[in-house]
Amino acid sequence: MASDGPYRRALATAAALLLLACGDDLPSLDAAGSSSGATTGAGSSGAGSSGAGSSGADETGSTGAPPVDTDGDPPAWAWDLPPGFPEPWVPEDNPMSAAKVELGRHLFYDVRLSANETQSCGSCHEQARAFADGKVVPSGSTGTALRRNSMTLTNAAYSYPLTWANPLLPTLEQQILVPLFGESPVELGASGHEDEILGRLRDDARYPELFAAAFPELDDPFTFERIRQALACFVRTMISGGSPYDRYNAGDTTALTESQRRGLEIFHSEALQCHHCHFGFDFSGAVKHAGTVHESLAYHNTGLYDVDGQGAYPVIDQGLLEITFEPDDMGKFRAQTLRNVAVTGPYMHDGSVATLAEVIAIYERGGRLVEDGPNAGDGAQNPHKSGFVSGFTLTDQEREDLLAFLEALTDEEFLTDPRLSDPFAE
Ligand code: HEC
Ligand code: HEC
Repeated sequence: MASDGPYRRALATAAALLLLACGDDLPSLDAAGSSSGATTGAGSSGAGSSGAGSSGADETGSTGAPPVDTDGDPPAWAWDLPPGFPEPWVPEDNPMSAAKVELGRHLFYDVRLSANETQSCGSCHEQARAFADGKVVPSGSTGTALRRNSMTLTNAAYSYPLTWANPLLPTLEQQILVPLFGESPVELGASGHEDEILGRLRDDARYPELFAAAFPELDDPFTFERIRQALACFVRTMISGGSPYDRYNAGDTTALTESQRRGLEIFHSEALQCHHCHFGFDFSGAVKHAGTVHESLAYHNTGLYDVDGQGAYPVIDQGLLEITFEPDDMGKFRAQTLRNVAVTGPYMHDGSVATLAEVIAIYERGGRLVEDGPNAGDGAQNPHKSGFVSGFTLTDQEREDLLAFLEALTDEEFLTDPRLSDPFAE
């Protein structure tokens, strides 16, 4: 693992990539105006209230290709949402379609998307683990370790902004630039290999048809902009709301065990305060959906570290502060969804907590005590820690109940849904 320098640069790179991409890879976004404002535009999405998917904006402008008359066949997309889930927000210039989702599913699992053909998105986002990977931190296609734990993609359609701590990544389309083109660290390493990678896809038996079906209005749909759009459409379909908790919520009182029902109450109790940060249908912090009028940002320091007695997190990753340079943003990260959390360990932004039982113990203590090593310090004393992480005391039974409740958020169908599975394994 390297020192902080390269990582700070990596973040700067991510921001620069966005601007770059908006400059030359995304002519139609620029033409559309508002959506390219990666630096300031996060709050401006008035489009949020319009229905998803149906606007079908004709975005052929930059290529000059005439729109294909689809014979009155609208690019209809019907969300199949769990009860209580709002319709996801979808950018106007990338409406959902079954053909784009299918193309995205292939691309997601295709190692040919990495320069050296060793890694796909699916290498770090495995369906059986709710699209996390079971590692503390993953390595990219060239073997360099990343500094952050692979996130679950459970309900990423609603994540806002994307990733553990980067408010400059408001959309999936933009976030996907990082694994594709990020250079420090390299993930898929496509940068500088674009033509080679597009060539591989063009020469493949399946892709010409898949791309043509997904982007029928384009003469040449083989571009990274279209790849990102298709990947984003696919990731938007990773919606999970079929856990025992959901069945219980829908009226099936037998769906949860007694212990899980007690755990549900404990989770929502004022003593624990979990629900102040993991709330709503997704048990997460701020979300964005089609009806969102004002996006809000929510990042918290949960007292995992205090390496200098003044609240510092390890230099390898100091969270939101790296983007905002606000001293009080030290160690602030996004409150991830808790859906499927039983299968997404290890936990936290750096994968430093091995089990859910340990996570609960840390909250119970009001922060983590790191006893020795370079990161030694008492996170409970961190001055930047949220007031909601103040500690509490549970009996052994209550601890077990809370754990049982978190396990009741696992959606087995999601973990095996063939619509989300690897098409190359079929
Ligand atoms: C080498 C491992 C690796 C690869 C390959 C990878 N990811 Fe990730 N992914 C991560 C890590 C680590 C994070 C958390 C990043 C952060 O917080 O900075 C992440 C975060 C994400 C998120 C944010 C989820 C959220 O809720 O905020 C999305 C979406 C995502 N990845 C999609 C993809 C897609 C699509 C691909 C393929 C183009 C991909 N990833 C390839 C490791 C990987
Ligand atoms: C102040 C807001 C806040 C409160 C209160 C809070 N959490 Fe969290 N939670 C977070 C944040 C932020 C993270 C990610 C922290 C990090 O990675 O550094 C997180 C991470 C987690 C994780 C790991 C998720 C993952 O995918 O790695 C679990 C599990 C969790 N919280 C459960 C709980 C439970 C149970 C409670 C109540 C006892 C609780 N949280 C209270 C904000 C909060």
